[in-house]
Amino acid sequence: MNYLSSKFNFERGENDLAKILTESKTLPNFIDLTSSNPTSLFVYDLDLIQSAFINPSIISYKPDPQGLKETRLALVDYYQKKGRLMDVDQFFLTSGTSEAMSFILKTICDTGSEVLVPTPGYPLYDFLLVMENVKSVNYSLVPRLTESQNKLIWEIDFEILERNINRNTKAIIIVEPNNPTGSRLTVSDSKKLVDLCQQKNLVLIVDEVFSDYYKEYYLSQPFTKANCIFLNGISKTLALPQMKLSWMYLSGEPEFVAQLKEGLEIVADSFLSVNMPVQLGLGKLLEGAEKIQSQIRERIYTNCTRVKQLLKSHTEIDFFLPDGGWYLLLKINTFSDDEEFACKLLKNNITYVFPGYMFDLEKDCFIVISLIVPEEIFEEGIKRIIRFTQESKQDLPQSNKKYH
Ligand SMILES: Cc1ncc(COP(=O)(O)O)c(C=O)c1O
Repeated sequence: MNYLSSKFNFERGENDLAKILTESKTLPNFIDLTSSNPTSLFVYDLDLIQSAFINPSIISYKPDPQGLKETRLALVDYYQKKGRLMDVDQFFLTSGTSEAMSFILKTICDTGSEVLVPTPGYPLYDFLLVMENVKSVNYSLVPRLTESQNKLIWEIDFEILERNINRNTKAIIIVEPNNPTGSRLTVSDSKKLVDLCQQKNLVLIVDEVFSDYYKEYYLSQPFTKANCIFLNGISKTLALPQMKLSWMYLSGEPEFVAQLKEGLEIVADSFLSVNMPVQLGLGKLLEGAEKIQSQIRERIYTNCTRVKQLLKSHTEIDFFLPDGGWYLLLKINTFSDDEEFACKLLKNNITYVFPGYMFDLEKDCFIVISLIVPEEIFEEGIKRIIRFTQESKQDLPQSNKKYH
């Protein structure tokens, strides 16, 4: 008897990598190069965080589907300091960006609706869509090597994107900067995308959870013309994923904003999921933004610098420095299968990396590692990857070495 909904048609049980991971985690020399839970990796201003919750009002309950106005005003203020003007009435607070996505899908989709999702990209979106009975349709971001060698530009394959739009298509998701590529859309792709969304009446969903970790803060100018929903939250902005507070921001034609507000109000009112203490504390918590963000940026910078030094003379590994986000892509030129590489590296050198297929990096042997791992552990991990790659060279045809 199968008690599960037919939408759960994934393979049951652990795959090989997960099995080896369970054993490896118990070994004293285990290195986790995927680790990206900030709460165990950085020093927090505990006094400030605790003071955010010392407030007699946390005992009161003021349900509001959009979230407390004072909390939304704190967000307006946060963005204003960055030069981005937002309207307090166009924010909706949610308990996590994933929840925001699920609220949007409940609001704009019917069973059988389709949403376009970028590949490579954040793997959770496929699941979130399936859970809302929405079909996830992929469009490709195609890598192009820039003149500065260790940088890839990822461009939308508009032919595939347009071919995949039909009358069931409701929205296009973009992740800016993208996880795991660390790239932003080019200005020309952004403009084309906005035009396409306008032409086809599609909602543009912009996941910008890593926008505070872009090389410079940016306002995605061309998107201001589209009917957009921007997503962000304190999981990344304040490195506080355990506090479960995110937001969506509606922008575009007045008719679009009004309709979406009406729909989202019904959905959000059915859950009222964001707890009062965190809503009341946000203003104070945001005072600590620069302190935690600068620590994270510094770690990313140091780890990127180390990667450049360590890998510059190793042609068997290509590295592609991100413009934003917390992740780094490595391409192993001496292997063709990313899962095999990750399994063997974990088994032989007790070092865990994500195989690229987890992010739909299907061609070549890409692996993904976290740039917020503490510096010494990160360096030892990279050295182990180099050692393992040298010891296990496979004879591959020259054609696989396409980024050199
Ligand atoms: C690109 C991207 N979007 C959304 C999320 C989910 O964020 P939240 O913790 O706010 O649900 C993550 C989490 O890592 C992410 O990487």
